[in-house]
Amino acid sequence: MSVVKINVLTVPAERREELERRFSGRAGMVEAADGFEWFELLRPLEGTDQYLVYTRWRSEEDFQRWTESQAFQRGHAQASTEGQQGHGQGHGHGQGHGHGGPAATDSTLWSFDVVQSTGPKNGS
Ligand code: HEM
Repeated sequence: MSVVKINVLTVPAERREELERRFSGRAGMVEAADGFEWFELLRPLEGTDQYLVYTRWRSEEDFQRWTESQAFQRGHAQASTEGQQGHGQGHGHGQGHGHGGPAATDSTLWSFDVVQSTGPKNGS
């Protein structure tokens, strides 16, 4: 049974563009992973102001293997020191453009079993 892993990112309004820019073009970071099934970066419109990084995997083991892979760790290297702790208080990320630290000030991982799933009819 597939599993869904959602990384919930708190991103200050002025850092949204930067976050989306960093994600764009990085699909290759996950696409090639064994057991990878789906990825979406979801920008909040209503009900929350947190971004969701939606990923779906064939199994928990496939997800774990990916997080331990070089592809994951290289892609997240810039994110590792800042922004992991604290609860979205958004302390001083004034670096502006470029690679100045993470855009997100906080993150939380949600895990789900896929109980039921369906797509558009016709499958052609
Ligand atoms: C569900 C699995 C994932 C986990 C646990 C995870 C972990 C994290 C964490 C903790 C952050 C926040 C730290 C930060 O602000 O940089 C982050 C940001 C980021 N992640 Fe992931 N991630 C996941 C999936 C992905 C995927 C699938 C991609 C690419 C397709 C990706 C690319 C990025 C990028 C580009 C950032 C932005 C760095 C920034 O804040 O400027 N992540 N991720």
